[in-house]
Amino acid sequence: MLPRVGIRGTHLARDADEHEFGSDDTDTKLRLVRDYLSAYATALRPKFNHLWYIDAFAGTGSRSVKHPARPGDFMNVEDVPERVEKRPGSARIGLEISPAFDRVILMDSKPRHIAALEALKVEHPHRDIHVVPGDCNRFIQDQLAKTNWASKRAALFLDPYGMEVEWATLKAIASTEAIDVWYLFSLEGLYRNAAHDINDVDQVKRAALTKLLGTDEWERELYSVHQPPTDLFDYTPPEERRRNADVAGLEAYVTRRLREIFPMVLDPYALPVGRKPQRFSLYCMISNKDGKALGLARRIGDHILKAGK
Ligand SMILES: C[S@@+](CC[C@H](N)C(=O)[O-])C[C@H]1O[C@@H](n2cnc3c(N)ncnc32)[C@H](O)[C@@H]1O
Repeated sequence: MLPRVGIRGTHLARDADEHEFGSDDTDTKLRLVRDYLSAYATALRPKFNHLWYIDAFAGTGSRSVKHPARPGDFMNVEDVPERVEKRPGSARIGLEISPAFDRVILMDSKPRHIAALEALKVEHPHRDIHVVPGDCNRFIQDQLAKTNWASKRAALFLDPYGMEVEWATLKAIASTEAIDVWYLFSLEGLYRNAAHDINDVDQVKRAALTKLLGTDEWERELYSVHQPPTDLFDYTPPEERRRNADVAGLEAYVTRRLREIFPMVLDPYALPVGRKPQRFSLYCMISNKDGKALGLARRIGDHILKAGK
C-alpha cells in the first residue's frame, strides 16, 4: 500500500485499519514473534494437520507509523509533509507465515478494530479466519481451553497495552498442553500499580494486581516492614510497609510465578532494548509437557531471543 501523504497542518482522513501504537521496539517485538511463528510452523507442519495461530490482542492488522512534517530550510529545500507509513501488525504477520497456519483466530475488544479484522478476512477469502469480538480472557477461558487439542497445536500471542491478561487466562492456556505463547508482560503496569508505599496501593490497584498475578500473596512477597529513622526530636515515625523488589526483582517474581504454571518459560527479553527503565518483559512460554516438544521449543526460542539481542 502506498504511504498516505498529507500537507503539513491539514487533517488526514483516517483509514479503517489505522492503529498508531508502540515505537521502534514494537518492530523488534514483532520481528521476534514472526521469527518464532515461522520456525514453529516449519517444524510442526510435517507432524500436525491442525496448526493454529491465535492473536488475542490483534489490533487492526496494521500498525501506522507517523513521520512528522519537516519545514524547508534556507537552502531552499522544500517542506516535507507529514507521512503515515503502514506496517504489518501481528494479525497480518500471522497470515503471512509460510508454511501457512490452517486456522487463524483474531480477537479484539474494540469494535473499530474488529471491523478492520473482518476486512482482513475478506482480503483472504481462501483462509480459515475467525474474528472474535470481545474480551479475549472470556473466549480463552470459556472456549479455547475446552477445545479438544489432541491433534492440534497452536501458537498464541498476548500483546496487551497494559495489565489486561488475567492469570486465569494463562492457567487456561497452560491446561491445553498444546499451545506455545508469546506474552508481552507490562512490567511498567506492575511497578506503577505496586507503589513503593503499600498505603498508596488502593483497593482497585490491589484487585488488578491480584488478577494479573493470580494470588494476593504478592503483598507478602514484594513488601516488607521498614522502620523510618528517629528524627532530631527523638520522634520515631510509625513503621511503613515498602516494596522491597526493584524492577529486576519484580521481573524475577513474575518469571517465578509463570514457571509455576508452564513447564517451560524462557528467560524474558527486556523492552525497550538497552534503555532503562525496562517497560516490558517479552516471555516465550510452552504448555506442552512432552520432553521432545520442550527441547524443540527451547532450541527455537533461545536461538531467536539470542539473535534478537
Ligand atoms: C497493543 S494493541 C495490539 C497490537 C497488535 N498485536 C498488532 O501488532 O497490531 C492491543 C489491542 O488489544 C485490544 N484489547 C484491549 N483489551 C482487550 C481485551 N480484554 N480483549 C481483547 N482485546 C483487547 C485493543 O483494542 C488493541 O487493539
